[in-house]
Formats: sequence, C-alpha cells, structure tokens
Amino acid sequence: MTVKVGINGYGTVGKRVADAVTKQDDMELVGVAKRSPTYEAEMAVDKGYPFYAASEKYLDGFEEKGIPYEGMLEDLLEKANIIIDGTPKKAGYKPVYEEAGVKAIWQGGEDHELTGISFNSMANYDEAYGADYLRVVSCNTTGLLRTLYPLLENVGIDNCKAVMVRRGADPWDTSRGPINSINPVLDIPSHHGPDVKSVLPEIDIQTTAVKVPTTIMHLHSVIVDLEKEVGTKEVVDLWEETPRVKFFEASEGIDSTAKVMEYAKDRDNNRGDLNEIAVWKDAIKVEGSTLYYYQAIHQESDIIPENIDAIRAMCELEEDNEKSIQKTNEAMGIQ
Ligand SMILES: NC(=O)c1ccc[n+]([C@@H]2O[C@H](COP(=O)([O-])OP(=O)(O)OC[C@H]3O[C@@H](n4cnc5c(N)ncnc54)[C@H](OP(=O)(O)O)[C@@H]3O)[C@@H](O)[C@H]2O)c1
Repeated sequence: MTVKVGINGYGTVGKRVADAVTKQDDMELVGVAKRSPTYEAEMAVDKGYPFYAASEKYLDGFEEKGIPYEGMLEDLLEKANIIIDGTPKKAGYKPVYEEAGVKAIWQGGEDHELTGISFNSMANYDEAYGADYLRVVSCNTTGLLRTLYPLLENVGIDNCKAVMVRRGADPWDTSRGPINSINPVLDIPSHHGPDVKSVLPEIDIQTTAVKVPTTIMHLHSVIVDLEKEVGTKEVVDLWEETPRVKFFEASEGIDSTAKVMEYAKDRDNNRGDLNEIAVWKDAIKVEGSTLYYYQAIHQESDIIPENIDAIRAMCELEEDNEKSIQKTNEAMGIQ
C-alpha cells in the first residue's frame, strides 16, 4: 500500500517533510499548499511537487508571479490520506481536516490538547498506530526523548534536570535580529519538561531555558539521577545502539555547535541538516548514579524522521516501530 501525503504550510518544516516523503517507497507526495508566492513556491514547482494555494484569496499572488497551481487546499485534501500541517502554531486547520475526513499531523508549536497524542518514534509509536490526529513534539523535546527514553527503559530514571540553551531564531529569520543578548526564560520550570511528560508521563523531569544569540542549534546540559549505579561505558554503549543519536568528539575537532553543523554540511546532508541528536562522547560522565551530558539539536531537522514514522504508524503501514525507524533512516541516509 502507498499512502498519499499532502503538506499544508511549506516552510521550514513542511519543505523538509516533503523531501523526506519523496524518499519513502510506501508514500507518495500528492501536493504542497502555501499562501505566498515566494521562491519556495517556485522551487516546489521546479521539483515537480503538485502545488496548491492555501485558499482562493492567495491566487492573485501566484498568478502575478506565473506560479502554476493545481487548485486550492480543499482539492489537495480530497487527494490525500494524511496531511502534514507545517503552518505556524495555532493556524487553526483542525476543523478543515475533520470536515475533509483526512488524518493529520501537527508540529511542536501546538498544544498536546489539540490531538491528545504527542509522538516520539521510540517512546510511543504504538499509541499512534491507527490514530487520526497527533502532534510530533518540538525539536527540543524530541532531543530529550531520544536520549532519555533508552535510559528510562534500560537503567531507570529517578529524576532529570536539564537546561535548554536555545537558539535565538531560525537562521533565515531576520525579523528577530540582530540579537545581542542572553535572555533567561522567566517561566520556571520551562515548558520542555511537561512536554516530555506529554509523551512519557512517568518521567520526573524539570527544565529551565535560556535564549542565546546563535541561530544554528540548541544545546542541552542534562543531569540525570539514575535508579542504579552504572558505569559511563554502559551509557555510551546504550546510546551507541540508539537510533538517531550520534556521538561527536573534541579529538575529531568537533567541540562546538558550529563544528557539528560544519560536519553536517561536509557530509553533504540535504540542506546541511542533521536529523540525529549530537551527543559529545567526551563529556558523558557518570558519578555514582548521577549522569551528566551535553547534546545539541538541529532544530529544523531532528523532527523530520519522526513525521515519517508517525505517517507509517497512523496509516498502519508498519506495526513495529524499530522497523519503521530503520526504514526511514535508510531512505533518508540517517546514521
Ligand atoms: N522552525 C523550526 O525549527 C521548528 C522546529 C520544530 C517544530 N517547529 C514547529 O513546526 C511548525 C511550523 O513551523 P515552521 O518553522 O516550519 O514555520 P515557517 O517556517 O514559518 O513556515 C510556515 C509555513 O506555513 C505557511 N503558512 C503560514 N500561515 C499559513 C496559513 N494560515 N495557511 C497555510 N499556510 C500558512 C507559510 O507560508 P507563506 O510563506 O506562504 O505564508 C510557510 O510556508 C510550528 O508548529 C513550529 O513550532 C518548527
């Protein structure tokens, strides 16, 4: 069976999910919808992606620029089995998808309550199996879940405390800059801990966050009280086996987020993305039963494979999450 996938909101996330869908042999991209006649709309057409206007009121813009379109979002919804919503948070498309009778996936800008299911491929694939609606949790929450879930399953976690050092804006987003400040997020604890619990309610986790003047990655400083004493090597071995977690080492010349992203570009990753979570192997340390580590998150791309696995679960293409993860990873070249 091939699932027909449509994208509404062809921006940072939407365009990446679109490319990832075209790489899967069990999915077909039936179209992308957008409002503004930007270069991204032209590129979507150049790539051969069927292009739709988000609604009739945006047609003049596409006609003026000579960007060919197949129809409106409503026409795309008729063709799709499932929609990836890549619109900005709270755009409010749920009633539209419900009326069209199409399944839908939202992103981390939305609240858990919108769908009742918050998704991570390793942690709760089963909950998504056959579901009509879910949200893939944010880039930061996805990063925390990738490293915490295997610890929870294999070692046990008493408590986790983490500081999110957050990028100030997406790299293209000049509306928020120039930036020359460090802004503590004054809502304590930050929303990231509760967001992890929306997927894994059993984890005791508290987080705080600080915004810094960088655009390329987030960084997490994480301290975990484990249920039992383990060696550092045991944790290293566990994450070595964990999909979408990748080690970097200062001895290889990678001691900063800038160098992690340079590595991703040198690896010729699509758009220079890094779908894996970057963990500094040198800095994983267990003292007694307390684990310390740093990880870096490429905010625009870590959630993309999660969207693909979510499609597979919701459309009942694959029952086993490990098989879906492996299939997605192979198709996308994720290590
Ligand atoms: N950016 C990240 O790094 C990141 C990471 C993880 C999760 N997320 C989440 O992903 C979601 C999307 O964020 P994003 O960063 O991809 O946004 P984005 O880059 O601003 O892209 C949003 C896209 O939606 C389109 N759009 C805006 N309003 C629309 C509407 N009413 N109807 C249809 N299309 C509309 C925009 O098109 P026009 O140009 O045509 O207006 C644009 O193509 C949010 O929930 C966000 O929190 C973002």
